[in-house]
Amino acid sequence: MKNQTILIDGKKTAQQVKNEIKTEVATIVDKHEKGPHLAAIIVGDDPASQTYVASKERAAKSVGMTSSTYRYPEETTEEELLAAIDFLNEDEEIDGFIVQLPLPAHINVDKVIARIDPAKDVDGFHPVNVGRMAIGQAAFVSATPAGILELLKRYNIETEGRHCVVLGRSNIVGSPVSMLMAKKTNPGNATVTLCHSKTKNMAEITRTADILICAIGQAQFVKADMVKEGVVVIDVGIHRIPADNEKGYKLVGDVDFGAVSKKASYITPVPGGVGPMTIAMLLKNTLSAAKKEYY
Ligand code: GUN
Repeated sequence: MKNQTILIDGKKTAQQVKNEIKTEVATIVDKHEKGPHLAAIIVGDDPASQTYVASKERAAKSVGMTSSTYRYPEETTEEELLAAIDFLNEDEEIDGFIVQLPLPAHINVDKVIARIDPAKDVDGFHPVNVGRMAIGQAAFVSATPAGILELLKRYNIETEGRHCVVLGRSNIVGSPVSMLMAKKTNPGNATVTLCHSKTKNMAEITRTADILICAIGQAQFVKADMVKEGVVVIDVGIHRIPADNEKGYKLVGDVDFGAVSKKASYITPVPGGVGPMTIAMLLKNTLSAAKKEYY
């Protein structure tokens, strides 16, 4: 008989990570040292971005960190935004900050990210942090890939020598998580295949996955016939699909959870899987920035 499927509880794990951070922040503050301070810059009033930033602020405060948000109108120029970044780079009170994405179309996002001091880049988006991560040096790693590795570690999921298939090659998730899974680390030491929109015979490849990390951005893309019995499934997607309930929609991932979970040994739900880990890892990066662990 098939072993039971274990649900990877991202909400509970994120709370554990936040509790550990809270204890460390309290120790710092008890010594009358400056507590970690996370700042966020947000341009315009995209509702999803407002929600993200509000939850980051709430989470930072919940672990005893100082949190501040700098709001700029949609018509802010690139020069004005770069000047705001320079200001935060120089401000010794602020340990780390993020510039919420997406930015308005008239602003060059690469130029903005490049302006952030890598030592304060707690999103891990700056080319210096991406490069250091790629060659195995200490660096801020972006929060979603870091959260995925943290879940694998805390659930004691063996990765060494196993075939890890990553779906999606985005700068924020697919590319970094594929690099991290191949490193001489634990979690890591996996044999990694990175699939994307031009991959041929995707199902043939996914059926050989021991660990399948799905960040392809299509609702319920991964079906049961695309995975083998016992696979570990990490679902990064989050999509609203119409549903016959009060809200008129429900949240689903990149994986057809109902059918795939019957074959999986471990699987992350959506919501409550990878999502909650992201903010927890951002806070972990902010604590590392305050402790000057990498720079
Ligand atoms: N927009 C959506 N997710 C993120 C994130 O993790 N960081 C930033 N800066 N913007 C985002």
